[in-house]
Amino acid sequence: MRALTVQPGKPHSITLENVPPPPASDGAVLVRTLALGLCGTDREIIAGDYGTAPPGQARLIIGHESLGRVEEAPADSGLKAGDLVVGIVRRPDPVPCPACAAGEWDMCRNGGYTERGIKARNGYGSEYFRVEPEFAVKIEAKLGELGVLIEPTSVVAKAWEQCLRIGQRAAAWRPRTALITGAGPIGLLGAMIGAQHGLDIHVYDRNKGGVKPGLTRDLGATYHNEFPDLEALQPDIVMECTGAAPVVEETIGRAAAAGIVCLAGVSAGHEITFDIGVFNRAMVLDNQTVFGSVNANHRHYAAAADALARANRDWLSRLITRRVPLSRWSEAFERRDDDIKIVLEFASH
Ligand code: BGC
Repeated sequence: MRALTVQPGKPHSITLENVPPPPASDGAVLVRTLALGLCGTDREIIAGDYGTAPPGQARLIIGHESLGRVEEAPADSGLKAGDLVVGIVRRPDPVPCPACAAGEWDMCRNGGYTERGIKARNGYGSEYFRVEPEFAVKIEAKLGELGVLIEPTSVVAKAWEQCLRIGQRAAAWRPRTALITGAGPIGLLGAMIGAQHGLDIHVYDRNKGGVKPGLTRDLGATYHNEFPDLEALQPDIVMECTGAAPVVEETIGRAAAAGIVCLAGVSAGHEITFDIGVFNRAMVLDNQTVFGSVNANHRHYAAAADALARANRDWLSRLITRRVPLSRWSEAFERRDDDIKIVLEFASH
């Protein structure tokens, strides 16, 4: 079968090559891949800046935003041939930390987790993959190709859950306004969930044109192509989805009193001068919280499926700005101004 592989640490080593069928050790559910979503993490892996191959192997099959159709599944798995499934990304540490042992591998305490297509485990970017039944999430057939959005949605579903949990430290905290920075897939899916929670959503992205302003407005949210005045906006929640150091700097310590800044984008190294005293003063005197959020567990995949089921299908479909057949895979990694989510099509639905 064909698979997209890289040699981690070596820039631009990505290739489409023939590899053996997925090993039984990957799990008892055999899946025919339909679609694979691409994200910034894949680009980092391709650039040689991130990712590790499985132990003893030189290359890694990339891909962690999956969608496939079950070919074979054990009778007691709750899955059957023909079901649409998405594979969970992270696997708990084999010597579980307390969080992994409780099924919260997304909160792993010792860093011993692995991730499909990212860290020490082959991903879903092959024509077939195998997955353990307990790490396969069944998708409603009516969601169709939009099921490929489950994984990125799970990441923001977790970020929202965590913000709302943290907010509970103050009895009367009722968030009204949220700022999302970055109108990529994570930012827009984060804005979608925020709008579903009934908040007044503001989205900041430096793009002036393209599809992002319209997608934001169609959520009933406000689009800003210049960084908004946070003194005036008073956001209860800021969800930082760019990972860009100057944007991170604009957000931390700048939420409303008792406000929460969730850092959900990963920065590349970037030296910046930052007044830690001013930051500390704002954090302490306003009871603010800044926290980081990564990955997702079962609860968040379920929340993601629920959020996508409630969303407008046409709007979700507009997030997928390019669908590229596997035979032209290299085009999928070209940068185009108007890209939001790019999906590699492995097989037709
Ligand atoms: C994935 C997460 C993963 C993170 C760090 C993200 O792109 O969506 O599942 O935990 O990268 O590797």
